[in-house]
Amino acid sequence: MGSSSGGGAVDAVVLVGGKGTRLRPLTLSAPKPMLPTAGVPFLSHLLSRIRAAGITHVVLGTSYQAEVFEEHFGDGGALGLDLEYVVEDEPLDTGGAIRNVYDRLRADDVVIFNGDILSGTDIGALVGTHRDAGADVTLHLQRVADPSRFGSVPTGADGRVTAFLEKTPNPPTDQVNAGCYVFRREVVGGIPAGRRVSVERETFPGLLEAGAHVHGFVDDSYWLDVGTPETFVQGSADLVRGVAPTSALAGPTGESLRLPGASVAADAEVTGGSTLGVDSVVGTGARIEGAVLFDGAVVEAGAVVERSVLGAGSRVGEGAVLRGVALGDGASVGAGCELLDGVRVWPKIDLPPGAIRFSSDA
Ligand code: GTP
Repeated sequence: MGSSSGGGAVDAVVLVGGKGTRLRPLTLSAPKPMLPTAGVPFLSHLLSRIRAAGITHVVLGTSYQAEVFEEHFGDGGALGLDLEYVVEDEPLDTGGAIRNVYDRLRADDVVIFNGDILSGTDIGALVGTHRDAGADVTLHLQRVADPSRFGSVPTGADGRVTAFLEKTPNPPTDQVNAGCYVFRREVVGGIPAGRRVSVERETFPGLLEAGAHVHGFVDDSYWLDVGTPETFVQGSADLVRGVAPTSALAGPTGESLRLPGASVAADAEVTGGSTLGVDSVVGTGARIEGAVLFDGAVVEAGAVVERSVLGAGSRVGEGAVLRGVALGDGASVGAGCELLDGVRVWPKIDLPPGAIRFSSDA
């Protein structure tokens, strides 16, 4: 392990079976953890951090579009991992998914990761804290600027979790559940099998009530849940700029990452940690800032694309403006359109020139 005491192997489990509804339409064609992020599937960044922490046995709990994970990562050998896949016929929710991989676990402790978190937390120190405390479960608790957007998790002076609180406008602590936990293997075996279980709403409160030792590992390193279009582009840009930790980048860090075949007009601007996918095109005078262009996306002359993600083979017409937009695969935005924060365009939709605007000055 990277640090602290304890030693000995641990397993890792990554939950990747969610439908990713908040990231639609991008998750219609690929599950969230497989979306290209800084040139590789999002999950590659997490797997690289798991490997860097010295963990090699990793089980993926899959459900939605289960087959694509194995098609891409195979047995994990290329990443130095021993990867296994466990498929849920019906999604079992987070706790049910953890229980469902129980018979694949080999070590006494297992680190469980939500597959949509970008985090710089020290995995070795998390496991070390768990072992030093002799805990049943240890949660990574992240200190955040605005805890009112999350359920909060207070801890006592001894580091033990004292409650799991629902979202409230004035939470008593800035610590939130960061979606990463260490479980003793027997605790996994104690989760009810074969039905949906929410680890956050059922397992954790149940453990506290039963008097189990639930510990907190409080941290304030980089942390982002990339589950929405807004945070997905943020996470991608942070990876490209070197703000978010990874060892799976497809190129050097900087203002942009341009994949093979990306073509950019000499006078176009590409900044803010943007990624230009394979064979994407940025036309003359266009401005791309903190955006993600999937493979084959085209931005025509004079268009502006900020904090947006453009699906594979999508097109942004001449002079169009997109700020905070998610464009589905193969969608086309006509010249002069203006699409602003939160707009989602479904795959293959074709918006005619000037069809949608927010301002009236054009
Ligand atoms: P939304 O629908 O946008 O909320 O996304 P999601 O389906 O991914 O749900 P959420 O973000 O709450 O899930 C947290 C993590 O758990 C993600 O990595 C999901 O892939 C995973 N997850 C959620 N539900 C299931 C499930 O039923 N089975 C498995 N194996 N993983 C799940």
